[in-house]
Amino acid sequence: MTNLNMLKENSLKGKTILITGGGTGLGKSMGKSFLELGANLIIASRKMDVLEQTASELKKETGGTILPIQCDVRKYSEVESVLQKGIETFGEVNVLLNNAAGNFISPTERLSHKAFDIIVDIVLKGSYNTTLAFGKYWIDKQIQGTILNIVTTYAWTGSGFVVPSATAKAGVLALTRSLASEWGKYGIRSNAIAPGPFPTKGAWSRLFPENLSKKLDPKQRIPLKRFGEHHELANLASYLVSDYSGYVNGEVVTIDGGEWLYGAGEFNGLDQVPTEMWDEIEKMTRGKK
Ligand code: HXC
Ligand code: NAP
Repeated sequence: MTNLNMLKENSLKGKTILITGGGTGLGKSMGKSFLELGANLIIASRKMDVLEQTASELKKETGGTILPIQCDVRKYSEVESVLQKGIETFGEVNVLLNNAAGNFISPTERLSHKAFDIIVDIVLKGSYNTTLAFGKYWIDKQIQGTILNIVTTYAWTGSGFVVPSATAKAGVLALTRSLASEWGKYGIRSNAIAPGPFPTKGAWSRLFPENLSKKLDPKQRIPLKRFGEHHELANLASYLVSDYSGYVNGEVVTIDGGEWLYGAGEFNGLDQVPTEMWDEIEKMTRGKK
């Protein structure tokens, strides 16, 4: 396949990057780009068979070095063990990409407290577990590490029907911005990406089930009228973990084809008005005193 990377070869050489949830979906696509750009990669999640399959596929495709490690990010001891194995294998781990997540759609009143817990624990607790373990290590060893968190645009707008995810992603955004201020003095940068819809099996099977997509076409909410492509996100992530973004700290970069602003702008829905109707509307609205 054609190389779709924006950065030049070896831009990530010397970096060792942990991607949580790196065995599937967007994590896998970002990992592939990082390997192509010369980074060492660690991928960590619950399903070892999936991680191993991805590792062998990416190794074959890129020739890069990739270490799969089983880890439930909700458990601090497992996160510490990933870091330890990463240091043993690569000498140093200097980039953390918090990408692991859980999500499903449901009216909030239908959720059990366990259903709420499971999402918040994966997304928010998982992210602060890794961040704390890595931050302590970087500060102790005087390593100028980089954190990149994958959030969503509803981290700041909120959203019904994914309330545990929205609550947790808002927390991850607060974590991103708080540590950009607090740990900047150690040379540790902390940024986030807020993607709009990018097709993955994990998200589509849980958030856009077929019977619903037939009724509500999610593309209609996006000014560009298309979903994101994985290489578009991978390029942004590569930039944000690279030294080229060395002065970017505390930022959340939206990559959603204009979706959230479209939803927010009072009159944006008027693009549904057919052109011929505007003559009539103009007659009704013009010259009103
Ligand atoms: C209501 C549900 C539910 C559902 C599970 N639960 N699914 N409640 N509606 N659809 C409840 C269960 O009944 C249970 O509560 C509790 O949640 C735990 O469920 P388990 O199935 O035991 O948990 P587990 O097997 O660990 O699965 C975790 C999971 C699963 C989060 C539910 O979906 C998962 O593994 N997800 C990982 C990948 C993922 O979600 N990717 C999508 C990310 S996309 P009780 O009380 O019954 O025991 C994303 C995109 C955002 O974030 C933006 C898009 C534009
Ligand atoms: P995905 O393929 O389902 O990825 C989620 C990953 O998280 C899986 O690899 C899963 O692996 C891992 N994971 C779940 N629970 C875990 C745990 N307890 N410990 C460790 N790993 C765990 O979905 P995706 O669409 O690529 O999502 C990736 C990220 O992008 C998420 O943060 C999501 O919120 C964000 N995002 C996606 C979209 C989109 O449209 N796709 C939009 C906005 C934001 P295991 O099952 O092996 O643990």
